[in-house]
Amino acid sequence: MPTKIVSFIFHFLILIVQSSRMMSQITSALSDHEGEWHILHESIGISAMHMQLLKNNKVVMFDRTDFGRSNLSLPDGRCRYDPNDTELKIDCTAHSVLYDIGTNTFRPLMVQTDTWCSSGAVLPNGTLVQTGGYNDGDHVIRTLAPCNGFNCDWVEFPQALLERRWYATNQILPDGRIIIIGGRAQFNYEFYHPNSQDSSFSQKAVRLNFLRETRDSDENNLYPFVHLLPDGNLFIFANTRSIVFDYKQNRMIREFPAINGSEPRNYPSSGSLVLLPLDENRPIEPEIMICGGASRNAFQLAKKGKFQRAASTCGRLKIMDKNPVWKMENMPMPRVMSDMLLLPNDDIIIINGASSGTAGWELARNPVTRPLIYNPHLDEMRRFSVMPASARPRLYHSTAILLTDGRVLVGGSNPHIYYNFSGVEYPTDLSLESFSPPYLSPVYDHYRPRIIEVDEVVSYLQSFSLNFTVQRFLKMSVVSVRLILPSFTTHSFSMNQRMVVLKGVQISRVANNTYQLFAVGPSTREIAPPGYYLLFVVHSGIPSSGMWIKLQ
Ligand SMILES: *[C@@H]1O[C@H](CO)[C@@H](O)[C@H](O)[C@H]1NC(C)=O
Ligand SMILES: *[C@@H]1O[C@H](CO)[C@@H](O)[C@H](O)[C@H]1NC(C)=O
Ligand SMILES: *[C@@H]1O[C@H](CO)[C@@H](O)[C@H](O)[C@H]1NC(C)=O
Ligand SMILES: *[C@@H]1O[C@H](CO)[C@@H](O)[C@H](O)[C@H]1NC(C)=O
Ligand SMILES: *[C@@H]1O[C@H](CO)[C@@H](O)[C@H](O)[C@H]1NC(C)=O
Ligand SMILES: *[C@@H]1O[C@H](CO)[C@@H](O)[C@H](O)[C@H]1NC(C)=O
Ligand SMILES: *[C@@H]1O[C@H](CO)[C@@H](O)[C@H](O)[C@H]1NC(C)=O
Repeated sequence: MPTKIVSFIFHFLILIVQSSRMMSQITSALSDHEGEWHILHESIGISAMHMQLLKNNKVVMFDRTDFGRSNLSLPDGRCRYDPNDTELKIDCTAHSVLYDIGTNTFRPLMVQTDTWCSSGAVLPNGTLVQTGGYNDGDHVIRTLAPCNGFNCDWVEFPQALLERRWYATNQILPDGRIIIIGGRAQFNYEFYHPNSQDSSFSQKAVRLNFLRETRDSDENNLYPFVHLLPDGNLFIFANTRSIVFDYKQNRMIREFPAINGSEPRNYPSSGSLVLLPLDENRPIEPEIMICGGASRNAFQLAKKGKFQRAASTCGRLKIMDKNPVWKMENMPMPRVMSDMLLLPNDDIIIINGASSGTAGWELARNPVTRPLIYNPHLDEMRRFSVMPASARPRLYHSTAILLTDGRVLVGGSNPHIYYNFSGVEYPTDLSLESFSPPYLSPVYDHYRPRIIEVDEVVSYLQSFSLNFTVQRFLKMSVVSVRLILPSFTTHSFSMNQRMVVLKGVQISRVANNTYQLFAVGPSTREIAPPGYYLLFVVHSGIPSSGMWIKLQ
């Protein structure tokens, strides 16, 4: 056959393959419409070390009280008098802010005790419970209600924790309690009870030997990666090992093979981990994905000025497999201290971080400012797309969370013990940026579903309906409905982050460009603990804006 004809047939076949892909996932076929960065604020006055989106579309952020003076004053001439503060006994600046997405404004909040390297989870009623910190804050529980007034602020409960919780991990449980696991030199866990008069209120922390076994020579084994599994047990990953743990009976149920390669994946070798979306349309197969990390000696070497190349591998593990094995993949670049977020269309974004060194003061170099988007539905060689670069390095103490409209909010980065704005490599960053993934490009607006209205309450196993409009409807099989539980993000881990793909989706046209959709609420509280979720309709890879629903 003449080469011209062969080449013609070849290109024709490629065209068919491409157009069928385009039908199922528009974003992957039109990859030239890359994401975009936007600067929201040059300075919010603090460095956003911890972030949580609340159900009133406000984001609470905080750093630490012993950084010295921040660049944001407390209102009404208020000051914090703290004889135990290691830096400033009288501090009239804020270390926490409440950011309003809709108006792109923020206001100072007041924390009385040190919140540095702490953890949190949101209760089923929408109130954030933050636990621990450092120094005078390490036994404190603080709550912040999703209120709209200008008076609402942190409420603090001193000595409320049984043990010191500095670098612990929290997970909301099906019964509305929060489990608080580990922390520096804490090889145990305890519970937060929404009703502390509850008779089962724990009087003692419960030992967890797995954390002791997986610590490194510096006693570091911080921010273990924890997710609630659909069977009600916990998945816990620390160092290179992982287990299924029954917290009700304090029993390890199962241990998985160590992740391939010798690099630890949690602090200070901070990689990141997500629980992939739980899909109710087939037997639920929970799967974990972990990306990046740093070699075992990277922390010690970085202290001597030698910055090791970070890990460039990701591993995926199917928790229910009889003989689970880690499936390893390579990112286009090494990364440590990145954040991994589930995007509403099944993609995963890997954002922030560095390509050498580790977490810790001054311990990383070579910032990676290009996010990666991982599309799990493509062939292995094509899953990662490299996004445009931000102008700002986001190293130690940077964060990222998903916003209601599908953007990613990025803030923080302070690899220094104080707020240091000059004379240092990678100055303290007080800015706030957003990254718009390719699906937000206006070229997809024809395919973008717009939810008109949805009931505020979704119940377990109950059918519910919502109406949406879309200019160019492709077909029912490319529409899905997802619930996302917003995360408490700090130190490269998004605690409580999960997505459930709902079943029973039926669609009928009710008017021109308007469709009525039926779906069924999640099956169990273990698959989706009660609380406020963002509901997204996704049409051929293009998500709607999220609507808040209360799952109960
Ligand atoms: C914060 O305030 C200090 C002192 O006023 C100033 O030098 C610095 O530029 C400010 N930093 C930012 C990021 O606004
Ligand atoms: C300062 O720390 C001491 C010792 O831990 C404690 O007894 C005291 O109550 C603290 N003071 C304040 C104002 O928090
Ligand atoms: C949410 O629950 C917590 C714990 O029970 C309680 O302190 C708080 O007042 C509740 N918030 C609302 C808005 O009901
Ligand atoms: C990962 O480790 C397992 C067990 O040691 C081994 O069977 C498998 O081939 C390894 N996978 C890769 C990609 O190296
Ligand atoms: C950071 O700032 C503090 C006080 O503002 C100063 O003492 C310290 O030397 C600075 N650190 C570096 C690395 O320059
Ligand atoms: C959706 O539209 C249909 C037809 O107009 C209407 O009957 C129904 O109440 C709407 N449903 C919701 C949840 O708004
Ligand atoms: C719907 O579209 C058809 C065809 O374009 C048009 O004839 C009809 O008037 C439209 N109906 C409404 C309610 O807009």
